[in-house]
Amino acid sequence: MTKTITVLPGDGIGPEVTDSAVRVLDYLFKTFHHDVRFVEERIGGAAIDAEGIPLPQKTVDQCQASDAILLGAVGGPKWDRQSTNVRPEQGLLGIRKALGLFANIRPAKAFASLIDASPLKSFYVEPVDFVIVRELTGGLYFGKPSERRGEHKEQVVDTLAYSEHEIERVVKKAFQMAEKRRKKLTSVDKANVLESSRMWREVVNKVASQYPNVEVNHALVDSTAMQLIINPGQFDVIVTENMFGDILSDEASVITGSLGMLPSASLRTDKLGLYEPVHGSAPDIVGQGKANPLATILSAAFLLRYSLDMDLEAALIETAVQNVLKQGYHTPDLKVSSEHATLVNTVEMTDQVISAIAEQTAH
Ligand code: NAD
Ligand code: IPM
Ligand code: MN
Repeated sequence: MTKTITVLPGDGIGPEVTDSAVRVLDYLFKTFHHDVRFVEERIGGAAIDAEGIPLPQKTVDQCQASDAILLGAVGGPKWDRQSTNVRPEQGLLGIRKALGLFANIRPAKAFASLIDASPLKSFYVEPVDFVIVRELTGGLYFGKPSERRGEHKEQVVDTLAYSEHEIERVVKKAFQMAEKRRKKLTSVDKANVLESSRMWREVVNKVASQYPNVEVNHALVDSTAMQLIINPGQFDVIVTENMFGDILSDEASVITGSLGMLPSASLRTDKLGLYEPVHGSAPDIVGQGKANPLATILSAAFLLRYSLDMDLEAALIETAVQNVLKQGYHTPDLKVSSEHATLVNTVEMTDQVISAIAEQTAH
């Protein structure tokens, strides 16, 4: 049966990086004779410009009817005016919520060829291999009441709310991942201040009894931000609420070299998932061929593995990315210093990944 991938390019460099990932996927599907079709829909600023809203119903329906979703990024200065009720980011939050994608998986792993690209000393970067499991459909991003600032209003409200159920399902996902990895789970919160964090700890401890092989630690988010820099190699799986996970994952990207390298998967309990880079629409480099497409290409590998059961094809992408980096190809965001390094643009980087896949399948 034909599988369907819905592509949501979005704004800024979104279309540039989803084009790259679609080319890579298309090459694999043709090579292995997989029957997969791509359907493109609008989200974010692109949808606001065309239809006045950031998440048209047609986009939600198409995503719901598909096997997987590939997203670029949303947002940009064009839509940043305070006065409006309508923001591109609502489209992204809306699709995560509409599809119930509660677990956002954001791995950070050192690439051997990019050790020097990190601002941290190589000694700290080499052992880095952890996954942040970020709660994605609750917390401060979605809590009610949420009150906008209107005229003559001196107070606004954001609400950090969690139900036990919301915490439990994402924590379980994190334990399951830890079981398959180095069996270490760090739950990150702010339990010295927030009631939601104290409940979060309780739920983690309760779920922990079902996973006796996994070692559990609780850590406060402020000191975790520091630990990620002074000893990032200590972490295996980190589980945390929505906003803490957002902030810590951008921090994690720097450890491994660039925000342009970090992929993500947003999952629920069945196979449907949304795959997107951790980075945003990068308005400062849009249209210049400078966007690093690897975060989105690596997100496409997750898409193959988690939603389409194509493990071999996913591994081909991951090995190809490693090989291309080993050969010294890099976009401007990757500060590599080797004399063999070759600076490439978005399209050339994508061409190199496709050739590196072709090289593997030829053997
Ligand atoms: P950003 O991630 O877009 O950019 C931060 C910095 O990283 C910029 O200097 C940018 O050039 C660089 N960068 C990001 N991705 C890159 C890539 N693939 N290759 C090379 N360099 C890259 O964050 P920002 O500037 O804070 O936000 C810009 C807009 O993106 C905002 O409107 C924000 O809301 C939105 N945003 C969207 C998402 C998403 O759609 N998932 C994520 C984060 C931010
Ligand atoms: C991300 C982004 C989004 C988030 C924004 C654009 C709503 O920063 O995916 O990391 O905060 O979740
Ligand atoms: Mn973010």
